[in-house]
Amino acid sequence: LPPVIAIDGPTASGKGTVASLVAKKLGFHYLDSGALYRLVALGSQKASIEPQNGPELGILAKKLVISFKNGQILLNSEDVTDAIRTESIGLRASAIAVHPEVRQALVGVQHGFRVAPGLVADGRDMASVIFPDAVLKIFLTATAEARAERRYKQLIAKGISAKLEHLLHDLQERDARDSSRGTAPLLVADGAEVLETSELSIDQAVKTVLDWYQS
Ligand code: CDP
Repeated sequence: LPPVIAIDGPTASGKGTVASLVAKKLGFHYLDSGALYRLVALGSQKASIEPQNGPELGILAKKLVISFKNGQILLNSEDVTDAIRTESIGLRASAIAVHPEVRQALVGVQHGFRVAPGLVADGRDMASVIFPDAVLKIFLTATAEARAERRYKQLIAKGISAKLEHLLHDLQERDARDSSRGTAPLLVADGAEVLETSELSIDQAVKTVLDWYQS
């Protein structure tokens, strides 16, 4: 099987940016597993399924037709690239991600990304559950304050107004839920290296991952 680099970490840690740049450098495929949970969140909102209804959400997750094409994300052939990136979909994604039925429904799609020459996968349970045989496992993190500030800058750059203390509050709420859930909680997997990025630039973080991979 092609090699996998698994990069897990909390919200707004920068793992998506780092993972996609590492993938580009190595010529590997890239899996943004969070996008899958966001797609289920959006799809379930459209279908008016309650975030508490695990069984119905699982059925929906199996039925969704998802495709990633040239940087675009399609849900049942509708372009939802921007629609899944809102904070409210992010919160809903973390609420629906607690259900084993939902997580189970997404296993096959995620394994499907493991194609030659290799894969960089980013999420919460890449190293622990989806790709336990990953050749390199990284837990990429930063302090809550550093992460809130990164998200704030991202939103402002996109012309979206935001309040730093609200972002910090949302992020802490999401951290608490992601870490305390019974199924696939966010944790440092066995054999994972911790990469603390509060004081690192994106380039430095990417370089560290590449150095670890090549050593
Ligand atoms: O980067 P951010 O946390 O804002 O969002 P994301 O990575 O797109 O993930 C959205 C939500 O999906 C997270 O809060 C997690 O609860 C959930 N998720 C998960 O449970 N397992 C994954 N492998 C990826 C995301």
